[in-house]
Amino acid sequence: MKCSFLQTGDVPHALRFAFILLCMLSFPLDVIAQETATVCLQCHSAQTGRGGMVVQPWKTSIHAENGISCHDCHGGDPKDAVNAMSPARGFLGVPKETDIPAFCGRCHVGIRDDYLQSAHGRALGKGGPTCVTCHGSHDIKKVTLELINEKSCSRCHPYERAAEIKAAMVETERQFMSIEGRLARFKGEGVDTEATDKELFSIRNTYHRLFHEVNTNRVKSESSKLQGELAKLDHILQKLDEQRAKRKITGAFVIAGALVAALLFYLLRKTYGNDR
Ligand code: HEC
Ligand code: HEC
Ligand code: HEC
Ligand code: HEC
Ligand code: HEC
Repeated sequence: MKCSFLQTGDVPHALRFAFILLCMLSFPLDVIAQETATVCLQCHSAQTGRGGMVVQPWKTSIHAENGISCHDCHGGDPKDAVNAMSPARGFLGVPKETDIPAFCGRCHVGIRDDYLQSAHGRALGKGGPTCVTCHGSHDIKKVTLELINEKSCSRCHPYERAAEIKAAMVETERQFMSIEGRLARFKGEGVDTEATDKELFSIRNTYHRLFHEVNTNRVKSESSKLQGELAKLDHILQKLDEQRAKRKITGAFVIAGALVAALLFYLLRKTYGNDR
């Protein structure tokens, strides 16, 4: 509801008051309406069987959190209940297993390419995992390295190679955390960390591109390279930390010194100052 007309002078007082009330009431409704604005959600939320079962898991997913709704993945017309699922309106339906990487890969382009050229991608449709084997389809969450675990990764082959990948990545992750801890502290103290932030961002991008190729040797060699770069960054930050700590101690000595001097001065004056 557009409420700006209330600012014009030609609305009678009583009416104006009624309209202001209406505007206030309609504001939260607008917000709620936006959340369930698509006809997909309206109709599917009301369903019981398999059409309704997907809604709740989606609501707590990282996709819902980032505004990626039913029609962003499945296509279709989110504004027209009658033609919502018409192929003529771009409805894609449920992807076949072999179409899933392309389906998700419309948005996750780099990961799709890494996956397709990996041992997993080459085994697509022949017993290899697709994106949803590891991430799910509606209840997709922000990733952690816990996705690599014995239960999930030994369904089709021994866990060994997966474990090696995980070990390398866990160590890199630990170094990231250490550096981030220091950076957060510096930021809290108002230090300019932009250069380090940038370097960390670029290392992180390379790191997150490592997994989907599932190339154990490459993950290991790239990880040790990244770990070297991270160790250098950490060392620089540690030095800076020490310098700042020293400066703080020096600062404390200066202040303490000044206080002692003031006290001495006061005592001296007290002793010799009033000999009038
Ligand atoms: C007026 C009701 C209604 C609307 C609007 C609607 N759907 Fe559906 N949809 C259904 C029903 C009913 C089914 C069948 C569910 C079942 O099999 O239990 C279905 C099935 C589906 C399926 C599975 C199709 C298959 O081949 O198995 C998908 C995917 C889907 N809908 C997505 C969407 C999307 C995306 C939108 C919005 C663009 C949408 N729906 C809008 C009622 C609706
Ligand atoms: C991130 C992309 C994504 C989003 C968002 C998404 N879906 Fe799906 N959906 C998929 C994929 C992939 C499959 C097929 C793979 C599978 O069966 O797990 C699927 C399968 C389905 C099915 C068939 C389920 C079955 O048991 O056969 C229905 C119905 C459906 N989706 C409806 C919806 C509705 C309604 C929404 C919005 C609440 C939605 N989807 C949001 C990716 C998505
Ligand atoms: C064998 C299991 C597996 C398969 C198959 C898989 N993933 Fe992943 N995915 C993972 C793991 C494990 C991570 C976490 C790696 C990390 O922390 O960098 C991840 C991370 C991600 C991320 C987050 C990357 C980032 O930058 O933080 C996205 C997005 C993603 N996968 C999407 C996909 C898509 C799309 C596909 C299909 C083309 C796919 N995944 C196939 C296991 C898998
Ligand atoms: C319409 C675009 C779109 C489609 C299609 C899509 N995603 Fe996403 N996905 C996003 C956005 C946006 C985010 C949140 C921002 C981010 O982390 O990149 C996200 C986040 C993710 C994450 C979490 C990444 C992280 O940082 O931890 C995973 C995993 C993921 N998507 C997997 C999938 C899978 C699997 C499919 C197919 C079933 C899929 N996505 C389809 C847009 C999409
Ligand atoms: C649905 C079955 C399936 C699942 C689940 C699965 N894989 Fe695989 N994986 C395969 C197939 C098939 C191959 C190719 C044949 C082989 O090397 O064993 C493969 C190969 C690999 C390779 C060797 C790649 C190479 O180039 O030599 C690694 C590493 C790997 N997978 C890691 C993982 C990890 C990590 C997970 C769990 C996050 C996982 N896999 C889950 C099916 C699966």
